[in-house]
Amino acid sequence: MATEAPLYKDPTQPVEARVKDLLSRMTLQEKAAQMAQIERQVAAPATLTDLSIGSVLSAGGSAPRHGATAEDWADMVDQMQRWALASRLGIPIIYGSDAVHGHNNLFGATIFPHNVGLGATRDKELARRIGEATALEVRASGIQWTFAPCVAVCRDLRWGRCFECYSEEPEIVRMMTSIVSGLQGSPPEGHHSGYPFLAGGRNVIACAKHFVGDGGTHKGKNEGNTICSYEELEKIHMSPYPDCFDQGVCTVMASYSSWNGEPLHSSRFLITDVLKNKLGFKGLVVSDWEGIDRLCQPQGSNYRYCISASINAGIDMIMIPFRYDKFLEDLILLVESGEIPMLRIDDAVERILRVKFVSGIFEQPFSDRSLLDIVGCKEHRLLAREAVRKSLVLLKNGKDPKKPFLPLKKNAKRILVAGTHADDIGYQCGGWTITWHGDSGRITTGTSILEAIREIVGEETEVVHVPNPTASTLLALHQQEPFSYAVVVVGEVPYAEFLGDRTDLSIPFNGHDTISLIAGTIPTVVLLVSGRPLVVEPQLLEKIEAMVAVWLPGSEGGGVADCLFGDYDFHGVLPVSWFRSVDQLPLNSGSGASYDPLYPIGFGLRMFD
Ligand code: GLC
Repeated sequence: MATEAPLYKDPTQPVEARVKDLLSRMTLQEKAAQMAQIERQVAAPATLTDLSIGSVLSAGGSAPRHGATAEDWADMVDQMQRWALASRLGIPIIYGSDAVHGHNNLFGATIFPHNVGLGATRDKELARRIGEATALEVRASGIQWTFAPCVAVCRDLRWGRCFECYSEEPEIVRMMTSIVSGLQGSPPEGHHSGYPFLAGGRNVIACAKHFVGDGGTHKGKNEGNTICSYEELEKIHMSPYPDCFDQGVCTVMASYSSWNGEPLHSSRFLITDVLKNKLGFKGLVVSDWEGIDRLCQPQGSNYRYCISASINAGIDMIMIPFRYDKFLEDLILLVESGEIPMLRIDDAVERILRVKFVSGIFEQPFSDRSLLDIVGCKEHRLLAREAVRKSLVLLKNGKDPKKPFLPLKKNAKRILVAGTHADDIGYQCGGWTITWHGDSGRITTGTSILEAIREIVGEETEVVHVPNPTASTLLALHQQEPFSYAVVVVGEVPYAEFLGDRTDLSIPFNGHDTISLIAGTIPTVVLLVSGRPLVVEPQLLEKIEAMVAVWLPGSEGGGVADCLFGDYDFHGVLPVSWFRSVDQLPLNSGSGASYDPLYPIGFGLRMFD
C-alpha cells in the first residue's frame, strides 16, 4: 500500500495543522537550521540539503554575476531550492533580498523613487501599486521575500537612512504602509491582524523594519540609541506596525538601534512582550545582518551570549549570514544546556513554518518563468514616472511670485543644463541600487534628467550640457549665444546606512558655487537630487528663479521633465521639515515656538491654480 503523504504536505489541511505536524517530525538540528538565514555565497548543496537551512538572502548587490538577468537569478534561486527540497523533510527555503524601491538588486529592473519621495506624494494607492509592480519583478527573478518596507520615522536628518523613510510624521508613514498590500496582496475581510498573509505566487513576503525606534536615535546616529519614554516610542516609532499587521505583514526585522541603552536585538520586553504578545504579531521576527553579533563587544566575541540573548528575546530567524556552522553548533548546545528553552525554539520554528505555509512555497517552490518579461516593462516604467511626478516638491517659483518662472518653455532657442546630477542614473537612484551603497554613472537602464529634457524640448532648442562650467567657459558660451534659462541639477552622492550619517548637509561638489555662478548670469531653476533636505543659503535662494526637491527619483527621469515643462503640475508636499541650518536638528513639526524651518513639513507650490 502506498504510504500516505504526511499531513504537512497536504495543501487542503489548515495551516496550523500543517505547522504542528511538521514541527512534530523535526529534530533539534533541523529546527535550529530553519532558524538560520545565510548569504547566497555560502549556500552550498550540502548546507541546504544536509542541514535544511531555513532561508538564503542576497546582501545589497550580491547577484549571481555582474549584470545578471532575471533568468540568471531565477536559475540560482531554483537551484538552491532543489538542494533544499532534497533535505529529509523537504522544507523549501524562502529567499530574501532588499527590494526597497523596486527590485534594485536586479540590473534592468524598474527603479522607483525612494521612500522619502513617496512620502511627498501622500498617495497610499500609488504606494500599493508600486508594491504590486515590485512584487512581480521580484518574483520574476525567483525571489519570494523582500526586506521592505522600511517604516522608520526619521526624526533627525543627519541619519544616513532618512531617504528610506516616508516621513518624520508617524501619520504619513502609517498611510504609506499600504505598500504591504501591494507587495503581499490584500487580505480578505475579517483577516486576523498580526497573522501572516500572502495572496499567491505573484506576491512577495514583506518585512516591516526595523523594529523599533531606528529613526529616533540620538543625533541621528545610525544604529544608535533612541532615548525616550515608552509612550513616545509607541506614539511615534511603533505606530506604523499595527497598520502593517492589519495587512498581514509576514515578517518584521529587528533594529540595530537601542532603546534607552538596551539593544533591540536583545530586548525581550519589546520583541516578545510588546511586538508578539501585546500587538499580536504571529509572523516571524528576523534579525538584521549580523545583528546578533553586535550584542557582544568586541563584535561577535562571546557568540553564545549573542545567540542566547537574541533568541530568548524573541528573535526567530537569525540573518547570520556566514558563520552558520558556529551558529548551529552553539545554538544546539544552548538548547541542550537549557539556556534556551525548547519552547522558545518551537515558537520560532512554528512562526517560520507558518510564514512558509501561508506563502504557498510548499506548493510552488520554484520561479514562475512566465513573469520574466515583466522586469522593467513599459507599464512599470510609466508607473515609476507617475510616482516621480507626484513626488516632486516645488519650493520656489519666480523671484516675484506674480511672475512664475515655471513651466519652462519647450521652444527656447538655447538652454544650459548644468550640475553633477543632470546626467547620472546612479545619482538619481541613490543607495540600495545594483550595489549596497549605489554608485554614479549608468549603473542600470533608465532615463537621466538630461535625457528627459532633450526628449521633451522642441527640435529647434539647443541643449548645452556642461556639468561644472568655469566662469570663463560660462561667459564665452553665453556671449556666443545667450541662454534663455539654465537648469542646474545638483545633490548628494549615493550612500547607505552609516555611510550616510552626516552633520554637514551642504550641497556636495561645491554645488552652492555652481548654482551661484550660473544664476549670476542666466535665469536659473535648481533641481536638488538628494535623500533629504540640504543647506540652501538665503542669498543663494534669492539669486535663483525656482527650486525643486527631486529626492531620489530612480530610473525614470522623465517624470522630472514632465512637470518642469508643464505637461503636469507639481503636487508633492514636504514629508520632512526643511531646516535653515543643521544647528536646528532635530527639527520636527509640533515642537512649538522653536519650530522655525526654511520650509515646513507639508509645504509645496503649484504652477497652475
Ligand atoms: C542591512 C540593513 C537592513 C537590510 C539587511 C539585509 O544591514 O540594516 O535594512 O534589510 O541588512 O541587507
